[in-house]
Amino acid sequence: MPPQRAVYAEDYGTSYFKFGPVWIGKYPEMVENRGYFPKISKAVAEIRGIEARTVVVGPEVSNYLESREELRRLYYPMRNGVIDRDDRNGWLIVKELTRYGLKKFAPVGRESPIGPFDGFYVVAALAAQAPRYMYEEIFSIHEEINSEEGGSLVKAVTIIPQPLAVAIAEKATTCTVLEAGHGNTQITPISRDVIRSALIPLNRGGADSNAITAQILKDLGYGNLAREEKFVRIFKEMAGLVPINLDEAVEWAKSHPGSLTSSFTVPGTTVKVDMGEKAWQRFLIGEYFFNPGHEMFESYYSVGFTPPRDTVLPGETIPGDVSLAEAILMAVRKTPVEIQPGLLSKILLSGGAFGWRVPAGLEGIAADATQKLETMLRSLGVSTSPKMVAEPQFSVWRGSMVYGLYLPERLRWSWKSMEGWHQIS
Ligand SMILES: Nc1ncnc2c1ncn2[C@@H]1O[C@H](COP(=O)(O)OP(=O)(O)OP(=O)(O)O)[C@@H](O)[C@H]1O
Ligand SMILES: [Mg+2]
Repeated sequence: MPPQRAVYAEDYGTSYFKFGPVWIGKYPEMVENRGYFPKISKAVAEIRGIEARTVVVGPEVSNYLESREELRRLYYPMRNGVIDRDDRNGWLIVKELTRYGLKKFAPVGRESPIGPFDGFYVVAALAAQAPRYMYEEIFSIHEEINSEEGGSLVKAVTIIPQPLAVAIAEKATTCTVLEAGHGNTQITPISRDVIRSALIPLNRGGADSNAITAQILKDLGYGNLAREEKFVRIFKEMAGLVPINLDEAVEWAKSHPGSLTSSFTVPGTTVKVDMGEKAWQRFLIGEYFFNPGHEMFESYYSVGFTPPRDTVLPGETIPGDVSLAEAILMAVRKTPVEIQPGLLSKILLSGGAFGWRVPAGLEGIAADATQKLETMLRSLGVSTSPKMVAEPQFSVWRGSMVYGLYLPERLRWSWKSMEGWHQIS
């Protein structure tokens, strides 16, 4: 049994901030990692009797989004899991989201479900490529919030790389974790700790699948809808299919007209998308995340659609259109030969961008993420069966929780080992 401790975990993702205390149960609360900067002036606010605020976060944001115009005042602070050091608006949003979560769950002045409460033990999960200034910023944000809110919200903070949290949730010591969310895919060889010199933070995630989906919608004549990020995401998740083999799947779809659903009604709206003869393009949506270098995407690139951005590492540039299987091998080859077989034999997939499902009747043509990667790796001569973690969108949060329950109380934060508790109150 771990010690009873008021652990509170925070997973800062590109699209969602996931948070909650140990007593919340299996699922964290989640809100979009975004903020809205209202236009309303101090004077108008006073006259109308509303509070003038610099930034609005959380569920309240949608109250402000009355027109397309206002989407421009909406800001998603994280790009590929990272915020620039001097992005003041970005850090302001992160601070307010952090405050929103802590205040929502802190039983200040009350008993917590696990006994007297004297501040949270906070575990914050950041992308493995997060630079040191992000760690410093996260520590000071918690310090500031704690003192602004009366001094008994946070007791101590620690920070963990997201892929390590996944490995902890899965009880794996030597493994390669692929954490693929909305903004980035962290390909992370782990042997007890993250092997930082082998990490490949690929600039690719669900957002790139959205980009190709938006392009396809535009070409189908739904240009207006394609501009709305949220709509594009819903359509992608509904219509996107990962082909086991793209050429064969497209060939099959074209020679079996009508066998793929081509008409979609978007839940909660009156919007209908009819793909007509182009239902085979559903396979492009799924392929793109795994292999944007496939020649079928060349016609898109030649008209100005841009592939995912390159990843610049010290002394090396990973092309943005690299296949996911090749990128895994690149990362593993950066580790000592002795541990490579272990790393390849346990590949763990986590994050929402691996959420693709196979509709009934399409077995043998469409794949889920594990089968797709297994096939891709086999064609590169590597035989292994990647495994999907339980609850891919929440494994970072769960692993962070476990980490916080077991990290010894007396261990103080060390910049050398990048572990331990940073004491706050
Ligand atoms: N069933 C699904 N099929 C395809 N994509 C999905 C599915 N479910 C979720 N996604 C995608 O997963 C992404 C969100 O994943 P996740 O919540 O892990 O990201 P995040 O933690 O916010 O971002 P990141 O980890 O990159 O910083 C979105 O792009 C979403 O569209
Ligand atoms: Mg994430």
